[in-house]
Amino acid sequence: MAVLLRTVDICRDFKQGSQTVHALVDVNVSIQPGTLTMLAGRSGSGKTTLMNIAGALDRPTSGQIFFHDREISDLSENKRDEIRRKSMGFVFQSVALISVLNAYENVEFGLRMAGVHPKKRDRLVKEALTFVGLERRMKHKPHQLSGGEQQRVAIARSIVARPELIFADEPTAELDTKTGLRIVRLFRHLVDEEKLTIIMTTHDPSMIELADNVIRLEDGRVVK
Ligand SMILES: Nc1ncnc2c1ncn2[C@@H]1O[C@H](COP(=O)(O)OP(=O)(O)O)[C@@H](O)[C@H]1O
Ligand SMILES: [Mg+2]
Repeated sequence: MAVLLRTVDICRDFKQGSQTVHALVDVNVSIQPGTLTMLAGRSGSGKTTLMNIAGALDRPTSGQIFFHDREISDLSENKRDEIRRKSMGFVFQSVALISVLNAYENVEFGLRMAGVHPKKRDRLVKEALTFVGLERRMKHKPHQLSGGEQQRVAIARSIVARPELIFADEPTAELDTKTGLRIVRLFRHLVDEEKLTIIMTTHDPSMIELADNVIRLEDGRVVK
């Protein structure tokens, strides 16, 4: 079976004064392309830490991460930035849209920074906003959108450059259950229709049944 991302014996310690928190202990996971994986576990179990390490935002204390069979844990920050920019998208719990830009401009921002041609930019932005069902809200500023709509703009922003792999850290935590389920169904749709690979964290059991795989963490360890 093909593997997009693989961790080998990942450990991550955080030193706090004289204490050491073992946030991840010997974590071995494999993510197949074209799947929706959910990281589940109580608050403090290590979900965000694992996601940050898998997304090359943080480095493990020991262990390795392979992306397309290439080890990325020991690459320079520049190389890791490049992989992140080219191949990965991120959606966070608090949406962090730019308040003075409308939905269209928020989604366009990264493409503009990357110097994508205006015509292509326009097509990609409209496609992404249409995909999340916001084609009629393109001119709205974040404060004119509901929480669920803002999160959908954030998702459009994360998919606009067509990354292979999307990380979403509790993307539904600040939404009501119905809106949250809508977001997860949208992820399901992105995986099924666009062949994206999505890894999201949640502690909501009602979301879990929509996943292809569930990885459960307890005190930094993967449990079956
Ligand atoms: N930057 C940090 N400094 C110190 N401890 C941290 C840091 N980040 C996370 N931790 C600790 O690591 C453990 C796992 O945290 P986290 O990955 O955020 O869990 P989750 O996302 O599942 O709630 C917790 O005990 C947390 O307090
Ligand atoms: Mg977390």
